[in-house]
Amino acid sequence: MKERTLKIVDDANGLSYTLPVENGTIRAMDLRQIKTGPDDFGLMTYDPAFTNTASCRSSITYIDGDRGILQYRGYPIETLAEHCTFLEVAYLLIFGELPTQSELKSWVYDITHHTMLHETVKKFMEGFRYNAHPMGMLVSTVAALSTIYPESRNIFDAATRHHQILRLIGKMPTIAAYTYRHQLGLPYIYPDNDLSYSENFMNMLWKMVEPKYQANPVLARALDILFILHADHEQNCSTNTMRCVGSAQTDPFLSTAAAAAALAGPLHGGANEAVLIMLDEIGSKDKVPAYVKKIKEGHGKLMGFGHRVYKNYDPRAKIIKWTAEQVFEVTGRNAKLDIALELERIALQDDYFIQRKLYPNVDFYSGIIYQAMGFNPEMFTVLFAIPRTAGWLAQWQEMITDPEQKISRPRQVYTGENTRDFVPLSERGTAVRR
Ligand code: CMC
Repeated sequence: MKERTLKIVDDANGLSYTLPVENGTIRAMDLRQIKTGPDDFGLMTYDPAFTNTASCRSSITYIDGDRGILQYRGYPIETLAEHCTFLEVAYLLIFGELPTQSELKSWVYDITHHTMLHETVKKFMEGFRYNAHPMGMLVSTVAALSTIYPESRNIFDAATRHHQILRLIGKMPTIAAYTYRHQLGLPYIYPDNDLSYSENFMNMLWKMVEPKYQANPVLARALDILFILHADHEQNCSTNTMRCVGSAQTDPFLSTAAAAAALAGPLHGGANEAVLIMLDEIGSKDKVPAYVKKIKEGHGKLMGFGHRVYKNYDPRAKIIKWTAEQVFEVTGRNAKLDIALELERIALQDDYFIQRKLYPNVDFYSGIIYQAMGFNPEMFTVLFAIPRTAGWLAQWQEMITDPEQKISRPRQVYTGENTRDFVPLSERGTAVRR
């Protein structure tokens, strides 16, 4: 088959260039040869927010945003959510294949035996103010782990990398649970190795004085499904941060802390908390039309709606809606669901949302489930960060081992002053500048 090429004619001088097209992309560096003269730097692309730029080759997650398809390593998200545990999916993301029974057994054993935090970390966390936001605590604590495991800087050693992956996936629920208990002023609960990943997390969150915590199996499974749905999502803002910071050869604890910081923003993982705040602000079903009108007039955004990649229903939102039904059978129905359903119904019939292809995303319903389970909205993004750690690490490892990757460093279009004459302070006059 003839290889696809792109012909470019430069109107400045009539010169033409033929660029190879591979995987639907041209290499941005191929544009550099397009110059108007020997002093010309060459052509660059301008793409604020990377809306049309592939920054890597990746074999981890596939999204078809127009058709609402999400796959991890070629497996549809719906299949994984139905048949797998979160740790099985984490293994798939990291290693590229689903584990055999014995591989899964030793993976679960290894993760389970890396859930404890160094006692100094516990002390460090005690220093946070009683009402510190859990995401701020999580970001800082993950960064602090870098001081405990200095060998993690040895990022080109596969065994060392693997060790840090076990530590990060293992310790994330422990840190998350500690942030929760800290806010409530409750003593920290140590991990219990008899329990599954999500049951152990629930144990560290909610155990009181009983000798053995019994997690509700429906809620534990729901949490595991939510973890699967949030585990990876190709080159989103936080994953791009993980790759960008990691490309400077920063250790995985600091890189993960940076990724978690990106996740905290309300346009990214922080949207699940923002949805609950929005539903509270709306207050009741009958106020939904007025709220939608306000959004259309340009006052804010409908949180939990819209996506850079999905121009169709987010497949994760569908599974979350189904999971919500299971959870509500145990916890009772969260009254906010009615407001959310009405919001979705009205928005999906409205020209503003139809034309812009704005559908509910993963964050629209997840918070309603989390709240029914007993989490306050401040914890929601922390619950997103736990499973996304597996995705960040899979992407980080892929980046480290990709010979094409270098330190991440975009170009800019300089719009400032040309070279100016310096004026000494005493001669600068009295003009007031802001
Ligand atoms: N409510 C109202 N209008 C919206 C929304 C929204 N949620 N999202 C996008 N639009 C409008 C936007 O104003 C723009 O309109 P116009 O063409 O008239 O200027 C148009 O739709 C295109 O939007 P955009 O801002 O150019 O799209 P983007 O790809 O830059 O942003 C987004 C994607 C997810 C940041 C955005 O849709 C948004 O802010 N949504 C609300 C926050 C949210 O739910 N974030 C979670 C995303 S999914 C999970 C995750 O990443 O963590």
